[in-house]
This record gives sequence, structure tokens and C-alpha cells, in this order.
Amino acid sequence: MIQQDKHFHMSDSYESNSSSQKTIGRTVIQCAIEMAKSEFINPQKINALDIACGPGNLTIEFLNALQDAFPDSMIELAGFDYSEQNIKRLIKNSERKIKGIVGSFYNLPKETKGEHIIISNEGLHWQSLFKMSKIFFLYLDAEEKERYELHALQNLETALKNIYESLQNGGIAVIQFGHEGNMQKHWDVIYSIFNEPPFNEYMSKINVPLYHLSIDQIHNALLKAGFANENININAFEQDLAEENATAITNLHKAVSQEGYSKVFPPKILEAFYKRMEEKLNDIDINAFRKNQWHRTLIKLKKQL
Ligand SMILES: C[S@@+](CC[C@H](N)C(=O)[O-])C[C@H]1O[C@@H](n2cnc3c(N)ncnc32)[C@H](O)[C@@H]1O
Repeated sequence: MIQQDKHFHMSDSYESNSSSQKTIGRTVIQCAIEMAKSEFINPQKINALDIACGPGNLTIEFLNALQDAFPDSMIELAGFDYSEQNIKRLIKNSERKIKGIVGSFYNLPKETKGEHIIISNEGLHWQSLFKMSKIFFLYLDAEEKERYELHALQNLETALKNIYESLQNGGIAVIQFGHEGNMQKHWDVIYSIFNEPPFNEYMSKINVPLYHLSIDQIHNALLKAGFANENININAFEQDLAEENATAITNLHKAVSQEGYSKVFPPKILEAFYKRMEEKLNDIDINAFRKNQWHRTLIKLKKQL
């Protein structure tokens, strides 16, 4: 199996089932525009990049916002993602106004260098492959978790260093991803279902490649990547799930996990898994469940040599 096959690609339903990502993604775009307006006065050209852009719906919103804020500038925006199918979607849906680049943020290609603005929403907590004994890092024993944490920390340092190197001097970045405690109750429900038959039979074959580091670890990784302390602004806060009921929450998880789980679950079992998730969520107090599930990390950066 090649690495691309093992990757958790966002499924076709992601764009219409990602309200929670859209909410915070629009905040990222707004912050980037505000920062850009104060940093760049009448720029002739703006090179911008959206890292881990997914299907690109937010990248298209970013292009519109840039054009509104800088009507006289030439804007060259690219979306970057590991998933070729999502990049194809971005190119098509933007009518080729946005360039698409397929690759990993752990190894940003040359064509991403010299950016004035980089944004990234809900991407940088996705890890490169790491074989673990449980489906999700939260349920590993202390020793295995520590090893995975080290892997995640090195990954974040690499990705942030790549972002630093892709920015031109004076360039800015607004990035957002989850930190410690992100979606904990949501994962507890999923893990409890994985422990039930018939799903438990497949559990050992699935690794969800996510890790949520602490704010201190994220801050240190930014320093190691090259950003000066005075050019790092981290706003960590909690947000409720935008999805309001069991069906919407299940559909969100399905949009993110279906492609990954389908490599292991037979189709009928996969269908039964999401049905069970919805059933379980219907049995709990959904408003209490939604509360503060997202641990957002909104980071504003500037590269200054
Ligand atoms: C949850 S989606 C976020 C998409 C979009 N930014 C949004 O906010 O809706 C995460 C995206 O990160 C991408 N991704 C994960 N690991 C990656 C990597 N190493 N390099 C590039 N993209 C990656 C996935 O393919 C997926 O499209």
C-alpha cells in the first residue's frame, strides 16, 4: 500500500459537513486579511498559500477576501494538500483561478517559496504515519504515548520550519489547529464504539493520524522553527461544536474518517459504525457534549530577518 492510500483523505461529503471547520476557517481568513492590510501597503503583487486546503472551499473564500481587500494588486493564490482528489476539486471549483499543489507540509516544494501570506486551518495536527497499538493517541499507555508525542513534536517543528522558510522576509502567516484536549468527548464516544463487537475486530488495523500538543509545546516549536518571540501571537480558546445534533456530528466524523476507515471496514460494517455513533449520540445530552469540544489554536506570525 502506498502512503497516499493510507492517508485519511477528506471524503466527498467534507465540504457540506464541516461547519465547525468553516467557522474557525473564516476567522483565520479574517485575521490574515486584517494583518495583511496593516503589513502590506499598496502591494503590486501578493503571493499567498493555503496549506492543507482540503477541497478548497475556504481557499476560494480567501481569494475573494484578498481581492476585496487588495483590488489593485495581482494575487497569486495556491492551495496545497496531500490529497490529489481534493486539489483537483479546488482547481475545478475555483475555475482555475487558484493554483493547486499536491504534496506534504512535511516537505514543502520549491514552488511554495517567497510567500507574502500563508494560511492553514485544521491541518497541522495531522501526523505522518506512526504505527500505534490503539486507534487514537489518547488511549495509548504512557510509554507509547510519549513516543508518539515526540514524533508529533518533531513533525510540528518540521512543518513550522517549512512555513517559516516559505515566507519571504516580512511575510505573515495565520495558522490554526487543535491543541491538547481537542474533541476529547467526541473521541471517547468513538473509542467506546470501537470496543464493541463487531467493530473491535478491526480496531487494531486503524490508526487515526492526529495528535494534539500543548500550547507550551506549540510555542516552543514556533521558536525552534525560527519565529522570533515578539512575532508570535497565540490565541488558545475553546469553542462549541457548530454541529447541533447527533446526525450532523456523525456526518462530520464520517466526512473526515470514511476514506481512512473504509480501507479496513467492509462497507456494511462501516455503515453500521456510523449508525451506532448516531444512536449513541442520540442517547446523550447533546448540548453538554458540544460544549467547548474544540480547543482552537489561532496563531498569527510574522517573519522578520
Ligand atoms: C480537516 S481538513 C482541513 C481542510 C481545510 N483547511 C478546512 O479547514 O476545511 C485537513 C486536511 O489536511 C490535509 N493533510 C493532512 N496531512 C497533510 C500533509 N502532511 N500535507 C499536506 N496536507 C495534509 C488533508 O489531506 C486534509 O485535506
